[in-house]
Amino acid sequence: MANKNLNAAKEAKKDEFYTQLADIENELKHYRQHFRGKTILCNCDDPYESNFFKYFANNFNAFGLKKLIATCYDGSPVQGNELMIDFGDFTDEPKKIPYKVEIKEVTDVNGDGRIDLSDVRHLIQNDKNVLSILKGNGDFRSQECIELLKEADIVVTNPPFSLFREYVAQLIKFEKKFLIIGNMNAIHYKEIFPLIKENKVWTGYKPFGGGMNMIQTPKDFDPTKTKSFKINERGQIIKNIMGCIWFTNLDISKRHEHLILYKKYSPDEYPHYDNYNAIDVDEICNIPKDYDGIMGVPDTFLGQYNPDDFELIGLGSGNLAKLIGVQRNYRGRTDLAFSINGIHKCPYSRILIRKKK
Ligand SMILES: C[S@@+](CC[C@H](N)C(=O)[O-])C[C@H]1O[C@@H](n2cnc3c(N)ncnc32)[C@H](O)[C@@H]1O
Repeated sequence: MANKNLNAAKEAKKDEFYTQLADIENELKHYRQHFRGKTILCNCDDPYESNFFKYFANNFNAFGLKKLIATCYDGSPVQGNELMIDFGDFTDEPKKIPYKVEIKEVTDVNGDGRIDLSDVRHLIQNDKNVLSILKGNGDFRSQECIELLKEADIVVTNPPFSLFREYVAQLIKFEKKFLIIGNMNAIHYKEIFPLIKENKVWTGYKPFGGGMNMIQTPKDFDPTKTKSFKINERGQIIKNIMGCIWFTNLDISKRHEHLILYKKYSPDEYPHYDNYNAIDVDEICNIPKDYDGIMGVPDTFLGQYNPDDFELIGLGSGNLAKLIGVQRNYRGRTDLAFSINGIHKCPYSRILIRKKK
């Protein structure tokens, strides 16, 4: 039991990274047309610290939003929130107070053209807006949060990494539009890849490489155990989290762009897998323009995937590979990866694609 609690605490700590405003701005500028007249829900976001809330509150009028809702979760192991002062939580271990903020009107109080979000309380002074304590703990799966989800048109956030599968399943169940941050490993989850294959989920604009610089909460920070980090001009600890990308089901123009292919197929240049009827293509730019069979390509293909031009066949590794009939490779295993010429294990994971006629 003690071990279980320790693991849960470790997992929860991994969830405590906060998204920088610049990363939100860089991605969301491509989705602006989707927001007009819509109710936006940020359901893993304490408005006092979430840049998602800040971004939508700041742009509330420019985007013509109908409503902005943010809910805060009390399970965070790292710090309390400012509401503790208002609502008198004086326990030794500070815990966030779970609450929701619903914004229907944003006014520029001092008329300087800027909305001052340094204190969420000023937004609440407008009687069209509401700040209220939740009955439960603010878990996105709780009934009261599900009611807010039902009300929302679009969900935008960086959800807890450890609950990504459940988080996406809930969005799909309630048929919500969404734009969320996740790890690129999620592409290989048996719950996520089928959604990508069926064109129910795709990846956003941010390229796959480079990760994302995120704000780490100070109480969670041990400089002796952290390899590389920076302190920004606001004194926040910034750490690069590898593999972060955006997942969405909002239509974006990138998804309709055509890959420019120039290479010609030759059997010498494109090795055939031993254990599946497909050729290996090591880089997206090397996809041959004249090959009609199945090709194994790096995961980064999804960043440039246009469903009008290609179909996704499956994954070349893991349990999903068995579903499409990947045979045992030279190591007698099907759950690893493709092999080539009986000896070489294909070094990277592959997605199987075929050109549409
Ligand atoms: C990766 S952080 C991102 C926080 C914020 N969305 C942002 O992008 O800055 C994930 C957040 O989800 C919260 N969280 C963890 N489990 C949750 C749950 N079951 N329901 C709602 N929020 C949860 C964590 O406390 C944490 O603040």
